[in-house]
Amino acid sequence: MSHETTRVAIIGAGPAGLLLSWALRDAGISSIVVENRSQEYVLARIRAGVLEQGSVEALTHLGLGERLATEGLVHDGIYLQFAGERHRIDFTELIGRTVTVYGQQEVVKDLIAAHTAANSTIYYESADVAVHDLDTKNPRVSFTHDGQAHEISADFIVGADGFHGVCRASIPTTALALYDRSYPFAWLGILADVAPSTDELIYALHEDGFAMHSMRSHHISRLYLQVDPTDSIVNWSDERIWNALHTRLGVPGWTLYEGTITEKSITPMRSFVASRLSYGNLFLVGDAGHIVPPTGAKGLNSAISDVTLLAAGLIAHYSGDDAKLTGYSELALARQWRAQQFSQWMTEVLHRNSTDVQSAEFEYRSQLGRLDYVTRSLHAQRGLAEQYTGLPF
Ligand code: FAD
Ligand code: DHB
Repeated sequence: MSHETTRVAIIGAGPAGLLLSWALRDAGISSIVVENRSQEYVLARIRAGVLEQGSVEALTHLGLGERLATEGLVHDGIYLQFAGERHRIDFTELIGRTVTVYGQQEVVKDLIAAHTAANSTIYYESADVAVHDLDTKNPRVSFTHDGQAHEISADFIVGADGFHGVCRASIPTTALALYDRSYPFAWLGILADVAPSTDELIYALHEDGFAMHSMRSHHISRLYLQVDPTDSIVNWSDERIWNALHTRLGVPGWTLYEGTITEKSITPMRSFVASRLSYGNLFLVGDAGHIVPPTGAKGLNSAISDVTLLAAGLIAHYSGDDAKLTGYSELALARQWRAQQFSQWMTEVLHRNSTDVQSAEFEYRSQLGRLDYVTRSLHAQRGLAEQYTGLPF
């Protein structure tokens, strides 16, 4: 068995794990990342698309902003669409903040390029990853790599291993409560080789369900449709997808351009928060500790915010100050609950809930009332703008 020692052992090479390792390296703190998938798989995973202003600042501060500055699309607002009409919410005018459209895939690509240039230690394709002795001063990680048993001793272990990872599951159940809810709908997402038909993202509530028009670049569009969570992608031909998008996103005088669909998949929606993001010398960041439904674009941004807080705590610890590290879980969870309530609000106001047929019509009209209020009240619009672009506190 090979044995290594490092300051921080990080499980998971998603955006959270890769960014934490990079932030620690920037501060001269050693870390090793252990990932169960291949680098190609990690690079190909298509997920979130919108960065809050604070996330852009965090990435730029760590020297990861070069491509983001040239290829990221800065948006001053979004469109909210309901009852057949499209309304613009102007973030810049309302609160002087913006968001940047830059795919999670691109963030991961930048991080992997930086780590590769710096010769960081990342064990891809690791099997049987397990964490041990979490409540001692010498926590350990064991795994198999290239058929060989490995062990890492560290001061701290960080679970950046997503919702299905091993780290959260290694906290004794008596020490952990889980708060969650599922939704009676899912998102069918597509990537299409066609210039976006809109300058800014469109979030639409239609009688048939939610639809959204996002983008990845001036040449690639990303679109979503609310579907039943039990539905299968084989039921959705390209023609059926475009027809549904035309119906739900259409407004008079506007054209939705079609292109070749290069990717399509269905994602369930879930809200989930663990009661603690630390246990002994284990810390959780990103989806390992919490999940939001994607409607508010808070998943990746929450992961970046956790990493920023935890990196500051670890850096202060190695300078002799433990206050930030001790306070990490509480501070990150407080921020997370603010992200949760916003994601829940966006999700509930924009999706049709068809399970409760009895109250479905009432709910729909009430949703229209809520959206109508937002478009008429500057106070409500400021609240939306402040939360969507990233709470400044
Ligand atoms: P992840 O990206 O999940 O990374 C975790 C890493 O840990 C992965 O590389 C995984 O392979 C690895 N891992 C897992 N288990 C182990 C193990 N046992 N050992 C070693 N490594 C392990 N958010 C939005 O805001 N908008 C969206 O449109 C959106 N779409 C999404 C679509 C899908 C299908 C999913 C799953 C999420 C989506 N999200 C979206 C959420 C957003 O992508 C996540 O919040 C973000 O990926 C969190 O980053 P992370 O690094 O914490 O977790
Ligand atoms: C995207 C995803 C989201 O959940 C969202 O709210 C905005 C954009 C996207 O994938 O582009």
